Amino acid sequence: MIKKGIILAGGKGTRMSPLTKAVNKQLLPIYDKPLIFYPLSILMLAKIKDILIIVNKGQLDQYKKILPDGKNLGIKISYAEQVSPRGLPDAFIVGEKFIGKENVVLILGDNFFYGQNLSKKLIENCKLKNGARVLLHKVIKPELYGVAKINKKNKITLIKEKPKKFVSDLAITGLYFFDNKVVELSKKLKPSKRGEIEITDLLNLYKSKNKLEADIIGRGGAWLDTGSIEDFYKTSAFVSSIENRQGLKIACLEEIALLNKWIDKKNIKNSIKFYGNCDYSKYLKNLI
Ligand code: TTP
Repeated sequence: MIKKGIILAGGKGTRMSPLTKAVNKQLLPIYDKPLIFYPLSILMLAKIKDILIIVNKGQLDQYKKILPDGKNLGIKISYAEQVSPRGLPDAFIVGEKFIGKENVVLILGDNFFYGQNLSKKLIENCKLKNGARVLLHKVIKPELYGVAKINKKNKITLIKEKPKKFVSDLAITGLYFFDNKVVELSKKLKPSKRGEIEITDLLNLYKSKNKLEADIIGRGGAWLDTGSIEDFYKTSAFVSSIENRQGLKIACLEEIALLNKWIDKKNIKNSIKFYGNCDYSKYLKNLI
């Protein structure tokens, strides 16, 4: 089972400027909590307790205010700074020490996943021993994403970044499962024309060895990318409508930790004190 997870939570946030001039995108709200809670909840649902959050140089203090060390959630959160946003595979270079000899999950800090059976799917994918696996989701505008074509055995036969001509409508989401070779392979990557090392190039290295698999998030699941201001508000609206109808929160970290039996009532009480008098705390009170 994969036990380590990385959240890549730096980035320039160009598309969301001026909102992102002073505050990192992942600290901005998706409805009632900071965006970072959502990818973190996904790792916790995958039963991953050892988590590295990679942030921009100089932004560590802000993150530590909201997610200090994970102790009260029954997990271990460590941090690393990325000198500049030089590409997604840089996560494995910055995170080399953290990864050590193990396999690893990477989730992009601005990706939102929701749906029935998601936890089961995550745990299943964490069984990966060799190679790499990506999660795919059908989209109506494949030209905006990295897409993958698959064969009947769910092996990927083609990857294309933002294809102008139709190749496939299965977008590659920001959740990746890798074996330990990812560190060495990432170091071999050369920057692309836009000056970044590219996840597509990394995935192609796995594909060339016939070691790249896909798992599909079906129509019962949602994957939303929160890169633009419009996406941010749409995702907020999605969370608000689900939470206010069901009375259940999406990405309540304490609730997941409690269900995983990683924490107890005492920790929930600590969190209530920490967050203060707010709706999130009221929700926590109801859990105990
Ligand atoms: P992007 O959406 O590619 O970039 P961005 O968030 O900086 O936004 P923009 O395109 O508007 O400038 O990044 C996806 C996620 O990965 C996002 O959460 C930021 C993070 N990221 C890093 O932390 N380091 C990096 O080197 C890159 C490329 C992205």
